Amino acid sequence: MRRLVAETRLHAASFVLPLFVTSGEAIERPIASMPGHAQLSIDRLVPVVREAADAGVGGVILFGIPDTKDEQGSSAWDPQGPVPRAIEAIKSADIDLTVWADVCMCEYTSHGHCGVVRGTTVDNDATLPLLARTAVSYAAAGADVIAPSDMMDGRVAAVRSALDSAQFDELPICAYSAKYASAYYGPFRDAAGSTPAFGDRRTHQMDPANGREALREATIDLAEGADMVMVKPAGPYLDIVRQVRDRVDVPVAAYQVSGEYSMIEAGAANDWIDGDQVMLESLTSIARAGADIILTYYAIRAATLLG
Ligand code: PBG
Ligand code: ZN
Repeated sequence: MRRLVAETRLHAASFVLPLFVTSGEAIERPIASMPGHAQLSIDRLVPVVREAADAGVGGVILFGIPDTKDEQGSSAWDPQGPVPRAIEAIKSADIDLTVWADVCMCEYTSHGHCGVVRGTTVDNDATLPLLARTAVSYAAAGADVIAPSDMMDGRVAAVRSALDSAQFDELPICAYSAKYASAYYGPFRDAAGSTPAFGDRRTHQMDPANGREALREATIDLAEGADMVMVKPAGPYLDIVRQVRDRVDVPVAAYQVSGEYSMIEAGAANDWIDGDQVMLESLTSIARAGADIILTYYAIRAATLLG
């Protein structure tokens, strides 16, 4: 009876699995704060992507761990970098799911900021052409969705026009519209090696205290040409997911971030909570709040449990 009358149903097809890709071969470097996840070289990544597709997962989103970092983050747009090469490998393996490319500079800059640094702050406008160039490089490699996560003002317009002029006018953009300056990103920054060397991201990521601003950010991103919008983190911001869902008419994605995952894992490892049950409850809550797409490190496990 409960199954018959359930108002919310989870579907593997709406999950997107974040993965960390590094250069080299046969590399599987476990991420201590994210049990079950590792930095993977392409030969190890492709089988995981296949496993996700076989479980019915709708997509993967790739984060690159480059060999070299510099002030500008120039490895981000290197066509031989980890992300473009991984996209090509997944596409030539003919795996049937969407491949999302996260676009940001912080994994590639020596200082770990999401853009070009001038003095002690991130230079918003100087960062835009670098993001645009990076997006085009991922598009050329065959990405299905471009997902800018940097939170610079005007980046959706910059990415859209660069993609259009490079003949990728049909490629969708999922904007991380409401990305909060969150302590829940801690484990990710270990995983991606993207902790800022000084300062923080509060000049561009949102204040957790603000809700209306999220709606404004989503509206601006849509006006600039976004095809989908994202709220991040997900669990602590379910009110924002709901408000954005009610306001826009494009797909809404929500990102269950690394800290949300790691807290559930830590509780489960101590037998303080039932990990699988809490996982499904957290994902159900995100769906109930209105997310159409859920980015989650649990994508394969949840898809498998859902059968
Ligand atoms: C990069 C980026 C971050 C995450 C996704 N893209 C981290 C940050 O802004 O510091 C976080 C993802 C997670 O915690 O799982 N801009
Ligand atoms: Zn960043």
